Amino acid sequence: MIKNISTSRRTFLHGLSASSLVALAPRLSAAPMQLPALRQLAGGHPLIGAAVPTHFDKRLNAQEKAILSSQFDSVTPENCMKWQSLCRKQGEYNFGPIDRLVEMAKANKQKVVGHTLIFNRDGNYPDWLFRDGGKEADSKLVWKRVEAHVVKLMTRYKGRIDSWDVLNEFVESHDPGYRVTDFTRFLGKDYPVRLFKLAAEIDPKAKLTYNDFAVENPKRQKAILAFVRSLQDSGCRVDVIGSQSHLEIGDDVGKNINSMIKNFAAIGVRSAFTELDVDVISRKLFWNPKTRPAAVLQNPYPVSCPDEVLQQQAKVYHSVFEAVMANRKNVDRVTMWGITDRNSWLNNWPWKRVNHGLLFDRASAPKPAFHSIAKILARR
Ligand code: XIL
Repeated sequence: MIKNISTSRRTFLHGLSASSLVALAPRLSAAPMQLPALRQLAGGHPLIGAAVPTHFDKRLNAQEKAILSSQFDSVTPENCMKWQSLCRKQGEYNFGPIDRLVEMAKANKQKVVGHTLIFNRDGNYPDWLFRDGGKEADSKLVWKRVEAHVVKLMTRYKGRIDSWDVLNEFVESHDPGYRVTDFTRFLGKDYPVRLFKLAAEIDPKAKLTYNDFAVENPKRQKAILAFVRSLQDSGCRVDVIGSQSHLEIGDDVGKNINSMIKNFAAIGVRSAFTELDVDVISRKLFWNPKTRPAAVLQNPYPVSCPDEVLQQQAKVYHSVFEAVMANRKNVDRVTMWGITDRNSWLNNWPWKRVNHGLLFDRASAPKPAFHSIAKILARR
């Protein structure tokens, strides 16, 4: 007897884990080529970007590649340019993945962002950096290595990468005002001055960015503004402040972003939204150690995300783009931190769950957030 199809599908699905179920979601004919293209609607002001995974050639399917080339005019390597990925062993640089990305970007007429020269977070550098044989390196040697790394990267891609995240995540709003890391311990808290001067010297034409998280938070915004002013006072050129913008539903950021762009413009610096995504599962419980054990069990949308949640998400994207377009001459770029929900880091950070933070779903279909952005851009 032939089994009723829906019953057998249900039985089949029952035996699968939540995350593999998503992979079985029906492939819609998303036809990304027939959608309005955000890059065209924005006309380069601002650039519309996406982060691209390492080995994108293998990891992205045909639909995702089509979205990448048709929707975006800027690409950021998600991981392959970070020092610890690029040069795990001293002296052995693995430029292959960046070279392929740069080549792909050229074919698609896309700009490339250099992300990132220094990531001021412990663990975001190779193990050998602060060692000298059996002992700790001294600060002179560490700076020599930083300098050589920056020279190597910026020189190799001069003319092909025109925008660099020179420094990532330096500022803390509480005492001592910066994130204490091996970089600050070995090089001192003023190493950003040396770093920005070096970058400006190597490529005087490149856009130099200071990139940080939660910049939309007024307290952090103030601290970041003060930090960038201090860089300027020390003779550094900072062209852009990057606001990572890892947001979540319910965030009411329009007003803060609006004033952020204006405050940065007042010191002669443009804004970029460098890693935008909107988590549909609030992370607030995770940051409180008491509620963290419960938070990490949350996986409310393992198969698909309800429409009302996607509408709330679209509201957050909408508010970002409203503020961006109201201040567009001072906004360099808006980059989404991924292409579709299938490869988004939000599925793993800060805990494992099936997430839905980007503009395209796992079947590469555009979500309400995509349409709301397209509508704003079309009004320009
Ligand atoms: C993230 C990547 O998306 C992940 O794949 C990786 O495991 C960790 O780093 N701020 C940044 C980005 O500047 O480089 C980070 O990217 C996300 C937070």
